[in-house]
Amino acid sequence: MTYKILVLPGDGIGQEITSSAVNVLKILEKKKNKKLFDFEYDFIGGSAYDKYGTPLSNETLKKAKEVDAVLLGAVGGPKWDDLPMEKRPEKGLLKIRKEMGLYANLRPIKIFNNLVDKSPLKKEIVEGTDIMIVRELIGGLYFGEPRGIVEKDGEDYGFNTMSYKKSEIERIGKIAFEIAEKRRKKVISVDKSNVLEVMRLWRNTMIEISNNYKDVELSHNYIDAMSMDLVRKPKEFDVVVCENTFGDILSDLASSISGSIGLLPSASLGDINKLTGKRFALYEPIHGSAPKRAGQNIANPIGTILSTTMMLRYSFDMQDEANMIEKAIEKMLNKYRTYDIWKEGFIKIGTSEVEEKIEEFL
Ligand code: IPM
Ligand code: MN
Repeated sequence: MTYKILVLPGDGIGQEITSSAVNVLKILEKKKNKKLFDFEYDFIGGSAYDKYGTPLSNETLKKAKEVDAVLLGAVGGPKWDDLPMEKRPEKGLLKIRKEMGLYANLRPIKIFNNLVDKSPLKKEIVEGTDIMIVRELIGGLYFGEPRGIVEKDGEDYGFNTMSYKKSEIERIGKIAFEIAEKRRKKVISVDKSNVLEVMRLWRNTMIEISNNYKDVELSHNYIDAMSMDLVRKPKEFDVVVCENTFGDILSDLASSISGSIGLLPSASLGDINKLTGKRFALYEPIHGSAPKRAGQNIANPIGTILSTTMMLRYSFDMQDEANMIEKAIEKMLNKYRTYDIWKEGFIKIGTSEVEEKIEEFL
């Protein structure tokens, strides 16, 4: 069985990091002496705008819905900053998430033991941190209607809406509890139910769902207090479930305690695709396109490579292979480091060398 993967490198460092991740999958094929993957390529974001005049073409979207998994690099860059909202690179990413129904964005925040000293936090606070952020990805403030900028009372007036149907909260809640069952059996739901009605519904719904998962402990925190606690005591958290915007912010915050945002992967999952029998799925690092670093062979591809190990786990049920690659990365980090996590005593390597080192340690 060969799995079809659509690779959408996107913009900036996207090309380099996805190429590195694809090569690691090819190394895996070589090791197993078996053809496992078929790769297809297309454009998204600014590069798609340059080519097709839109940040996500209908043809690309159609392909994305037909493959077993999508691997995405990153989108955006100053070149496209002045485009109208609907043509911006980010719209391509938001549209593919929405159209594929990828409501569950899983962002694991795990600290490599040998990188603890790279964290801005003290060793005793950060060591052993292992969090799964479950971010709702196709609703909330990002997508709520009405939205816009209009003229009102003689001046410009901008507005967005944070809204959820109960069923949308239920399905993301279910995912969070199911993941927690396989981990340390704790879910913390993040909201702002002291101020926002939609978050009151969020909290009540989470409490309702928790009745179906008696072995999982549910607690709640407000987004502001949670930001503080993630820095003060990251080790305490297991599964964190939150609204789209809150998850966007919290995951960047949490990623920085790992030492480099370049290390962290994500998986975005939807319902079962009738065509493939698997969940709709897209995998991407959580960092951006870092246009200033593009084309210099200095970007850290580990977040993207780890996104493909999430792909192996969640889309292809290849747990052993995912473990192998993750172990090889950990071993590599004892000796070799990309510039973002480099320090005295280690050999500095470029983006394209990471795959070679992983092959060496596999
Ligand atoms: C992310 C990014 C995106 C988001 C942008 C690029 C639209 O920041 O994946 O976290 O806001 O979701
Ligand atoms: Mn973000």
